[in-house]
Amino acid sequence: KHALTPPRLKTMKQQGTKIAMMTAYDYPAAQLSEEAGVDLILVGDSLGNVVLGYDTTVPVTLNDMIYHTKSVVRGAPNTMIVTDMPFATYRLTPQDTLLNAARIMQEGGAHAVKMEGGAELAEEVLRLTSAGIPVLGHLGLTPQSVLQIGGYKIQGKVEKEIERLLSDAKALEEAGAFGIVLELVTEPIAEAVTRSVNIPTIGIGAGRGCDGQVIVYHDLIRYGSNIRDKRFVKTYANVGDTIRTAIGEYVQDVKNQAFPEEKHAFPLDEEASRFISE
Ligand code: KIV
Ligand code: NA
Repeated sequence: KHALTPPRLKTMKQQGTKIAMMTAYDYPAAQLSEEAGVDLILVGDSLGNVVLGYDTTVPVTLNDMIYHTKSVVRGAPNTMIVTDMPFATYRLTPQDTLLNAARIMQEGGAHAVKMEGGAELAEEVLRLTSAGIPVLGHLGLTPQSVLQIGGYKIQGKVEKEIERLLSDAKALEEAGAFGIVLELVTEPIAEAVTRSVNIPTIGIGAGRGCDGQVIVYHDLIRYGSNIRDKRFVKTYANVGDTIRTAIGEYVQDVKNQAFPEEKHAFPLDEEASRFISE
């Protein structure tokens, strides 16, 4: 298996082959995702919510993203890995954006970066792509702006938002982005955006019309104790309950001296037994 590339993703869109992307933040999740046949891994800054325990993605740093990217790259050596540029590591100057993206590629080992925003990022996207850094766009609900937006609201409902989504998608395509994540966008508008560009759209809470889907690892398998029910998530396993039960049984076994058993212990060879005196 070879890692996907931006041109091959475009071909997948043209051929109508759906793209299955998911997030991963560490080595075992990356290994399992690659083994399961995921097309693309996103080291998302949702790391902040599902792994680091923050309320938003705002506190996530560039070093956090690089640290987690390294472990994902080691776990999925044959998968294309995209890493989020975290809050305030872009939108400064195109030079800063390039240097920060370069750290994600060189230190982290990612193959591409993702940035939240539309036409206002065109200059930065152009700077990165002309330096050889593939960029994935991200429109619709952009969690790094949640404090400004005032909540995780569905986008693409009113005319002004709809026009903006379509023009932002065009601007990202023209600036050289190889794809666009559409987050929490009404299904008909996500479909319209998908038809309006030649690069693939990857939806999350954006309905059935996108060229691919992305889902957060911890949502997919319900890993954690406070994974909320979300309309756009399909839960495929309930790992959180499995882990809690397993740990609870271990605790009880230790208390009841049911673990370790003889088979878990290392005996001493016969001739060495004389070293143990009563
Ligand atoms: O950080 C993330 O996981 C994301 C996806 C939800 C698209 O940006
Ligand atoms: Na993100």
